[in-house]
Amino acid sequence: MPSTLVIGAATGIGFEFAHQLLEKGHNVLVTAKETSHLRELEKMGARGIELNLDSDDSLNSFCDRFDAPDLTTVIHSADPIETTSKQNEVPSRDLFGKNMSTHVYAPMRLIPQLAPMIAATAGRYVFISSDTAKMSTEACGVALAFRTSIAALNMLIRCAAVEYPQVCFLSLSSGLMPSETTKVEEHISVEQSVGKILKLLQRTTRTTNVQFFDYVRHRPQ
Ligand SMILES: NC(=O)c1ccc[n+]([C@@H]2O[C@H](COP(=O)([O-])OP(=O)(O)OC[C@H]3O[C@@H](n4cnc5c(N)ncnc54)[C@H](OP(=O)(O)O)[C@@H]3O)[C@@H](O)[C@H]2O)c1
Repeated sequence: MPSTLVIGAATGIGFEFAHQLLEKGHNVLVTAKETSHLRELEKMGARGIELNLDSDDSLNSFCDRFDAPDLTTVIHSADPIETTSKQNEVPSRDLFGKNMSTHVYAPMRLIPQLAPMIAATAGRYVFISSDTAKMSTEACGVALAFRTSIAALNMLIRCAAVEYPQVCFLSLSSGLMPSETTKVEEHISVEQSVGKILKLLQRTTRTTNVQFFDYVRHRPQ
């Protein structure tokens, strides 16, 4: 049966992807830093796998062992959460490293392992990103580590698409979930966001390869 791998499924958007796909009867593999974070999804039938995106040992062990012959979709939805919250605040090296590691280095390490499997099924490799990754987004100096790391991820996707032309690489903005720093009028629920993205994914084809979908373009016309 075709399988979907959700990277960063312990909470938030990744959890909801796995949850909605399991409810539809899909075969779902899920990762978290610790498999104890995946109990609820495992009870629903998901296969939990430990993967700490910040750790070379964990990335190596995952790459050595992971195999899914019918892998049609990978959804990368991990975020270190921590970023700078003040205007023009320079992040510490550690904070910058965490953002680059989760959004860029870990995918750089995982793509050569996972993309050939997806290529075999002509599937999709999807990154959950943010509208702030667009060059045209009105810039501000808040969350510099987050913004610069997801912008770098765009270039990684473009490079990967050249190396693995059978895979459809996509970057998708999730829209904004409620948090202390977002305005109420901008909010959508995580269920709404994931529901819309899953509908959008059904419409994606090889011609949508290497595109960035902002939240507005998710909306049905
Ligand atoms: N929420 C929003 O409003 C919003 C807006 C725009 C974009 N996004 C994007 O959506 C994606 C998911 O965000 P979210 O809101 O769902 O965040 P979230 O609820 O905090 O989930 C982030 C996930 O990342 C995992 N994670 C963090 N560091 C990790 C590491 N080193 N190794 C492995 N897993 C790690 C966490 O799992 P563990 O428990 O295993 O650490 C957690 O399940 C991110 O790319 C984010 O930029 C979100």
